[in-house]
Amino acid sequence: MMKEIQINKNLGKEEKYIELTKQIKYLIEGEEDLIANLSNICAAISETHKFLWTGFYIVKGNELVLGPFQGPVACTRIAFGNGVCGKSWEDKKSIIVKDVNAFPGHIACSSKSKSEIVIPIFNNGNIYGVLDVDDSNYAAFDETDLKYLKGIIKLIEDNLG
Ligand code: SME
Repeated sequence: MMKEIQINKNLGKEEKYIELTKQIKYLIEGEEDLIANLSNICAAISETHKFLWTGFYIVKGNELVLGPFQGPVACTRIAFGNGVCGKSWEDKKSIIVKDVNAFPGHIACSSKSKSEIVIPIFNNGNIYGVLDVDDSNYAAFDETDLKYLKGIIKLIEDNLG
């Protein structure tokens, strides 16, 4: 069955997220394979918001390892506590970075990346991985992105365990 993301590009950011969340629910409905769902979720976010890079890093031992993503090639492994992703894992908290140059230890996977948001994914109190979104504009992410991306992460968390 064909499933497509159809979101009016003239909508504002929040309206796009509201539509996107509904459509992601439909997209992952009936599919229990996590990697398949993560793949479609990052494609759907990317297609809707045209961010520079949208993807997942998954905890494997003491590292985050690159998972499904959309965008330019990226670093494959990030140590615990390193970069924005490793810090989010360590602190078990979301991080919004308005200017990546001002974040100590930021790992630059693309010279085009100027701002970033990272949201941890929980599985029974442990971190399963993180959603990382980068953009080529400074201060691209705010509380609206945080709210709706967290809502999308919740759908993944329901798919875990
Ligand atoms: N900037 C991230 C690394 C991952 S790439 O942006 C895709 C970080 O500092 O953790």
